[in-house]
Amino acid sequence: MSSALMANYGHPELQFEHGKGVYLYTADQQRYLDFTAGIAVNCLGHCHPHLVKAIREQSERLWHTSNLFSNIPTERLAQRLVDLSFADRVFFANSGTEAVECGFKMMRRFHYHHGRKQRVRIISLTQSFHGRTLAPVAACLNPLHTEGFLVGDSGFDQVPFGDLEALKAAITDQTAGVILEPVQGEGGIRAVPVEYLKAVRQLCDANNILLMFDEVQSGMGRTGYLFAHEALGVTPDLLASAKGLGGGFPIGACLSTERVAEVMTAGTHGSTFGGNPLATAVGNAVLDVIATPEFLQQVQARSARLRAGLDGLISKYPQLLAEHTGLGLMTGLRCVCSNADLIKAMHGQKLLAVKAGGNSVRLLPPLNITETEVDEALALLDKACATLQKA
Ligand SMILES: Cc1ncc(COP(=O)(O)O)c(C=O)c1O
Repeated sequence: MSSALMANYGHPELQFEHGKGVYLYTADQQRYLDFTAGIAVNCLGHCHPHLVKAIREQSERLWHTSNLFSNIPTERLAQRLVDLSFADRVFFANSGTEAVECGFKMMRRFHYHHGRKQRVRIISLTQSFHGRTLAPVAACLNPLHTEGFLVGDSGFDQVPFGDLEALKAAITDQTAGVILEPVQGEGGIRAVPVEYLKAVRQLCDANNILLMFDEVQSGMGRTGYLFAHEALGVTPDLLASAKGLGGGFPIGACLSTERVAEVMTAGTHGSTFGGNPLATAVGNAVLDVIATPEFLQQVQARSARLRAGLDGLISKYPQLLAEHTGLGLMTGLRCVCSNADLIKAMHGQKLLAVKAGGNSVRLLPPLNITETEVDEALALLDKACATLQKA
């Protein structure tokens, strides 16, 4: 298929025409079970009636005002995020990378505001992924993403995942803060060890530097908690959210405590579209559904069912599958075979999944998936493994 789009995504073989619930459909009505959920975005599946209603109603009321004016859904979503989290303030953006960028700027501005102008450097972990604009790319140092794009080190230092001594050694009088994903996504679905995370929090406090969590992928109920860090018992100063927050509509948010937010005085940061009422109306509708203890418990129950099934498949196909990783429905399947081969075999069974680092396959179903749909995915994965084993 020829395309006028740039080739940066390669040439996707599949094109979808519509979606409903956990299924995607091609124009010729081929049905696929979607365990990508738009890379952990469609947290309530495709065209969820409550979200469709919210965007339809908002589209007939108010689309956009810019931040010259306040609007009702945006104020409401900010207040709800504050009420549901550690945060006191919210900045809305349009994507994950922008939410992260806002956090980076706030880390630096915080120290600048308090007269520590040399504290500009930010520490990140190996195999992290924080987005594709220049600062997140500089933070992650993935050669595929950096080559030909960076000027100098852009003020980032990287330390090995989980290595506390390396982190200690990297903190200098120029350090502004640390960013990490409580559960790494693109890097291979692995949770940061709890003891390490607690020690990082203590190190940040002892050095008066800031701790930022990137929960763009792990947030919004994906792990069975509204935010993954709640499961790990450590609270950040700043947090980036996106993906599931809009259930498929573009939105990002940077959440922070008052002590950090107070440095973002009028004019210091902005976005034309950030806080767009269409996006925040959908964000409110997402919270209506996911931000209840019952819903989050159901995510944990579905995860337990999926993982029990995966245990069975790992025992059945030890030549192909090694272990499952992650938390809740942020599921990694570490492969013995090539992850690309497994994904291809899954596509052959009309089951969609996403690659991740560490030779893993990511299983990221909508959070409202039913038991029957979990079982269907396990049966299709079984068939995919059987085909791959025979090949
Ligand atoms: C943890 C994490 N941070 C940031 C991003 C960037 O988000 P976006 O693609 O919306 O800019 C992603 C995207 O996959 C992500 O997984």
